[in-house]
Amino acid sequence: MENNVFEQMAKRYDTVERIELAKVIVKEVKSELQNSKSKSLMDYGSGTGLISLELCTLVDSILLVDSSEQMLEVAKAKISHKGITNSKVLFSDFTQETPKLKADIILMSLVLLHIPDTKKILQELFNILNDDGKLIIIDFDKNDQINHPKVHNGFTHDELDKTLTEVGFKSIDIKTFHHGNRIFMNQDASMFIASCIK
Ligand SMILES: C[S@@+](CC[C@H](N)C(=O)[O-])C[C@H]1O[C@@H](n2cnc3c(N)ncnc32)[C@H](O)[C@@H]1O
Repeated sequence: MENNVFEQMAKRYDTVERIELAKVIVKEVKSELQNSKSKSLMDYGSGTGLISLELCTLVDSILLVDSSEQMLEVAKAKISHKGITNSKVLFSDFTQETPKLKADIILMSLVLLHIPDTKKILQELFNILNDDGKLIIIDFDKNDQINHPKVHNGFTHDELDKTLTEVGFKSIDIKTFHHGNRIFMNQDASMFIASCIK
């Protein structure tokens, strides 16, 4: 996992392009959060909060978790600046150690591609979810144009469905929702949303 990269880029992470892409993701995630006013949401790999800080009126509470302190510093400044009262941050990397936490909904937006052992992290998140809880994954569809030693070049729906089933999710729905120009390491790419019930 390229933690240092995110530590270094935190203060300049929120570019016009990333904010635009985040708006597309937020719209898609919102449709998954109907009737969630009483639910706790964990945003795993939250970064600067581009996604989850737009969702705070739709849920009861949000915990933004990230393994980069600097990304969380930016998120914390936004929480304070916007006067958001139901959101807090946690500096943690569940691939190293998973704290004893529970959540009704876990969101993972553009994070899975940065974690080498996909099944292990999905298992950790499954364990954190309450019964009938929901995992929402946003990531890139498999893209053979991309080849990077530390980043998955996206995922096929079939391989992800298989891993999620092995982890224990009982209902899994994966669909592509956006095609964009130069959105994945400067290559044209498409993004999917996976909605999984424990
Ligand atoms: C591409 S950014 C996405 C940020 C945000 N979710 C969004 O969609 O705008 C990936 C984030 O995942 C975090 N990350 C990468 N590996 C992680 C890990 N093992 N545990 C927690 N966070 C991780 C990085 O620090 C970074 O903030």
